[in-house]
Amino acid sequence: MAVRSEIDSQNIPAHVAVIMDGNGRWAKQKGGLRIFGHQSAITAVRETVEAAAEAGVRYLTLYAFSTENWSRPAHEVMALMQLLVHTIRQETPTLLKNGIRLQAIGQIENLPNSCQKELAEAIELTKDGSRTTLLLALSYSGRWDLTQAARRMAQEVAAGRLQPEQITEQTVASFLSTAGIPDPELLIRTSGEQRISNFLLWQLAYTELFITDLLWPDFRREHFYDALRAYQQRERRFGKTSEQLTVS
Ligand code: IPE
Ligand code: IPE
Ligand code: MG
Repeated sequence: MAVRSEIDSQNIPAHVAVIMDGNGRWAKQKGGLRIFGHQSAITAVRETVEAAAEAGVRYLTLYAFSTENWSRPAHEVMALMQLLVHTIRQETPTLLKNGIRLQAIGQIENLPNSCQKELAEAIELTKDGSRTTLLLALSYSGRWDLTQAARRMAQEVAAGRLQPEQITEQTVASFLSTAGIPDPELLIRTSGEQRISNFLLWQLAYTELFITDLLWPDFRREHFYDALRAYQQRERRFGKTSEQLTVS
């Protein structure tokens, strides 16, 4: 496992996104219920947020609940929503203390009122945090994000405020829920699944992927450093040749 001193502080990704997966399997291995896995995942969240902030990562996006996760058994969905309220309430003082600003992306209006309220309060309380922005993806999916962007762009065109021929990649990016935030340079997924699961489809176009077999409740700051170190060993070519990169 990597230690912090092995990380090059001059090459820290500005934005790291995480698909926090494997809570159910972790609980099953321990002979517990799936919700026990979700409850046991809070330490991993806390350590990841702290490690990211300490390393100088400006934006950390955590995929906490997808649009598709609404199809899970109702009792699991309800337990996840309660855990969300509880965790936000419990962790907000630490976020404040550490200069971390909380924000959320996704169909927040679909969350139970108690969650929306807790989230809005925490977002307001932490709004001046300037060290790292923690973006929680809740009731989020990449296709939803692109669809809402297309709908809002169409509304602007219909109102005569936007000309179709003026629409560029920058325009599309500015209508996404991540407007103003750089695309993630690094995506971490736990539990070994090699898929995107409808996460940030547009934003991940050139993101480096780091997939680990660890189950999310076992993820600790050292594993975050492992991911940063792996990222620092990648050659990001963006379609160019390796030789072009060394010349420029
Ligand atoms: C990730 O763990 C948490 C959420 C998707 C909310 P899972 O609950 O998907 O755990 P596995 O993948 O079934 O092990
Ligand atoms: C992805 O995990 C969503 C979150 C981590 C919130 P899933 O467990 O829902 O993904 P799939 O269904 O295995 O692709
Ligand atoms: Mg899963």
